[in-house]
Parts: sequence; structure tokens; C-alpha cells
Amino acid sequence: MENATPRKKVTAPSILAAKGGPKIKMVTAYDYPTAVIADRAGADIILVGDSLANVVLGHDDTLSVDLDVMIHHTAAVSRANPAALVLGDMPWLSYHVSTADAVANAGRMVRKGGAEALKVEGGRKRLDVIKGILDAEIPVMGHLGLTPQSVHAMGGYKVQGKATEAARDLIRDAIALADAGVFAMVLEGVPSLVAEIITKEVSVPTVGIGAGSHTDGQVLVFHDVLGLHDGHLPKFVRQYARLQDGAIDALSEFFADVEKGTFPLDDETYSMSEEAARALLRDEPRGDAFDAF
Ligand code: KIV
Repeated sequence: MENATPRKKVTAPSILAAKGGPKIKMVTAYDYPTAVIADRAGADIILVGDSLANVVLGHDDTLSVDLDVMIHHTAAVSRANPAALVLGDMPWLSYHVSTADAVANAGRMVRKGGAEALKVEGGRKRLDVIKGILDAEIPVMGHLGLTPQSVHAMGGYKVQGKATEAARDLIRDAIALADAGVFAMVLEGVPSLVAEIITKEVSVPTVGIGAGSHTDGQVLVFHDVLGLHDGHLPKFVRQYARLQDGAIDALSEFFADVEKGTFPLDDETYSMSEEAARALLRDEPRGDAFDAF
């Protein structure tokens, strides 16, 4: 894989052009090594999601991460220079402010974090700030449905748009976002039928998570797909590996070798010339090491 021909850079316009196929592959990553892995696996979009609050920083919700934390992690992902689009997540309260402040915060994610596009949760309620960010020439991806930053307003992490009127509301939000000029939108935790209708109604790609199979692409959280934790997994997650188990096994082996004294071996050890060693030992106070010679 390492010597494969470099992939063409993915951009917001190329994602927009992917409406209707091929399917868009998106995954989160939060630092340099996870970005390298995601990119080499062929991600179209790497989302530096505020889900890092949960899976990387151990918080219960995404409300605990602020702009500085998101910039820090986005910059680490950018340094991997992925072919995938680097999508930064605007954290809670970074855009629930005046449009001018939201644009300034978005600018920091681009200038300091190296984000190539930004994701903003919410529909018509957030239209003014989304338009402001778009006016600053920053591509925006929308995010509708179960928007985790609204956990308290929603009364928990609940599937959205199950009732007819709520579903219609989501469809109106999606149309408004597309009309405003977002290049794509995430649909999270909505009934499959609602996601299918939105996908047919809007001219921009939809990327689903817990939204069924009719969206233009799919996204999952890196640590969920790879089994890097043993916490709760929502029903829409398919786990493709259990790397936490593999990592624990590998580290246990390392510790066992340390205990047994079988690590490190000679070829894992630096040496010096015999002459330098003899001179050193001659000048040092006599001890066990000297006797060994
Ligand atoms: O933060 C995140 O990981 C997300 C995805 C679940 C879409 O917003």
C-alpha cells in the first residue's frame, strides 16, 4: 500500500460532484496516525469530529470540547497531508454566536487547524451563520437529525424525524441547507425512509450514520469501526476489528518479556567499541560491570 500511486486530492467540489455515485466513504480521525490509516484505507473525507470528546478524551458528551481542542486535533490530522478532504467539526458554542464571531471561529479552524471544509450541526436555525461561513469561502457540510450537540434539547440521544411532522421538518431543513450552498450533509439517527426522501430531494450528497442505506455515502467513528474501545455501540455500528483486544494482547506480551528479562535482546541493544568500553571501565570505580569484562 505504501508505494501505491498517490491518490487525487479530494475537495469539497469533488464531493459535491459525487452526488448519485460513487458512494462517499467518510470516517473520523483525530490525530496524525489515525489520519494516515484512514487515508491509506481510501477515505474520501476524514472528519475530525467532536466525537473525539467521547472516544479520545473520555467525556460523556461532545459539549466539553471547545474550539482550541478542535483546532489542536484538526492540525494533527492536516499534518498527515491526506488525499482525503480534511473536514473540521465546529464545536458547540463556536457558531451559536453572532455570524461575525462564527465566521472568525471558522477562520481559525481553517487557518490554524488546516481544515479544508467545516461541518456545522443544525438546519434552518443555523442558516445565517452557515451562509456567513460560506461567504467567507469556506465549504460547509450540514448535519441534520440526531445532532449530538443538541443532546439536552433533544432529551437524550434519540432517533429524530420518526413522526410525520418531524420528518417533514427535517426534509425542509435539508432543502434549506442545500439551497444555502452546503456541499454535502450528514444525516444522523433518522429513519431510513426520511434519509431516502432527503437524498432524492436535495442536489447535494447525503452521508448517513444510522440513516439506512439510501444515502450517497456513509460515515462511522474510527474507534467504533475498529473496536478501539469496549463502550456502548449504537445498533448502526458495524465493528470490523477488535483492535483494543489486539493491543492489550501485544502489550501483555511486551510486559511478560520485560518480567522474564527476554526483552531487550542483543540485537535490540546499542553497543560501543571494545576499546571504548575497556577505557570506560578502567576509569570507572570497580563494580559488577567491570567484573563482567
Ligand atoms: O463528531 C462526529 O464524529 C460526527 C459524526 C458522527 C458524523 O459528527
